[in-house]
Amino acid sequence: MTLFPSLKDASILVTGHSGFTGSWVCHALKHFGAQIHGLALPPSTHPSLFDLTQVETRLASQNWIDIAHDKAVLDHVADIRPDTILHLAAQPLVLPSYADPIGTFRTNVLGTVNLLEAARKTDSVKGIVAITTDKVYANSEIGLPFKEEARLGGHDPYSASKAAAEMAIDGYRLSLPSWKRQLVIDTARGGNIIGGGDWSEHRLIPDYARAILNNKPITIRNPRASRPWQHVLCLVHGYLILLDHILSGETAQSAENLGEAWNFGPTATDCVSVQTILEKMAHYWSPADIQLEPTEQHEAATLIIDSSKAAHRLGWRPPYSLDQSLALTAEWYKTYQLNPSELHAVTQRQLLQYFAKIQQSPLI
Ligand SMILES: NC(=O)c1ccc[n+]([C@@H]2O[C@H](COP(=O)([O-])OP(=O)(O)OC[C@H]3O[C@@H](n4cnc5c(N)ncnc54)[C@H](O)[C@@H]3O)[C@@H](O)[C@H]2O)c1
Repeated sequence: MTLFPSLKDASILVTGHSGFTGSWVCHALKHFGAQIHGLALPPSTHPSLFDLTQVETRLASQNWIDIAHDKAVLDHVADIRPDTILHLAAQPLVLPSYADPIGTFRTNVLGTVNLLEAARKTDSVKGIVAITTDKVYANSEIGLPFKEEARLGGHDPYSASKAAAEMAIDGYRLSLPSWKRQLVIDTARGGNIIGGGDWSEHRLIPDYARAILNNKPITIRNPRASRPWQHVLCLVHGYLILLDHILSGETAQSAENLGEAWNFGPTATDCVSVQTILEKMAHYWSPADIQLEPTEQHEAATLIIDSSKAAHRLGWRPPYSLDQSLALTAEWYKTYQLNPSELHAVTQRQLLQYFAKIQQSPLI
């Protein structure tokens, strides 16, 4: 069985290709034979997965464009004429969103609207997969998993900007018949992503890696907060299924085939506390010196999403347990620490092993 047959030779615009998830996506799309066009800002961290694993060599083209510049985005999409679009570009962090709410809404909402408009006006585009987050749900913390139809909200500027992007997408979806435009617009809502190559500030695994590599303490805000943690390849897998379905015209979509929202979360047993992640990273890599520093800013204590729709209708299930995901993550950072020239090979091997595992027990 060939996985994702429609990706072969498809022209795919990836926004945010220079980021952590975007870099893994580009390696995966290249593996399945896609022509990748990147649109993003240059990598904002040094080191970056993009540079360390030479993502640039995977691309048919790349352009450094601010997604909030409407004309630049419209002209670029019209120029590339992609078959489909994977939209990852975002200001993706909660804490910086408190410091710069305008910039966060500008990139995450206006940037998404610019891309929707560019897709609507470029008739080669069959569909868009827009990545939002599990934080789009209005979280009253009753401990029940959120299904896709749950009310959206957002307790901080980042979460609210992603919920607002979902609203804009829904408005575009519902307006497509008025524009006589056939376009599938899916959104994908995932949990906290772990995996090798994330160097963002204010995230647990990169903070942990910096603490070990620089022999400094790690500051933890809320060790009891429970989150859905999942390996980046599990998410990439979900995105590739949606892209493949759009390209093949398969109707795993809604009846009108306008696209819909999909949760991609881990199993409930992999929704664990920050403290548990710290203990497991100590086991798989090295113990860190932990300093507690409570924060004034709101953070949800619990957040669980229900991914049964993606399991039943797309055949998507995360094949890795939390322990396997953390072991792979630790392996990647240990390679960076001890043998950085092997990083490209380790990244490729982890990617191939993931899709070999999917192929052995096909769920699609
Ligand atoms: N990492 C996670 O835990 C997580 C969880 C849920 C959802 N997400 C979502 O997944 C997506 C990717 O996240 P990531 O962790 O890989 O982020 P990242 O910070 O590593 O990458 C962000 C990408 O967006 C691009 N970008 C940022 N501002 C831009 C602008 N104004 N114009 C053009 N490009 C811009 C950057 O250049 C980069 O390529 C985001 O939409 C994020 O909200 C991430």
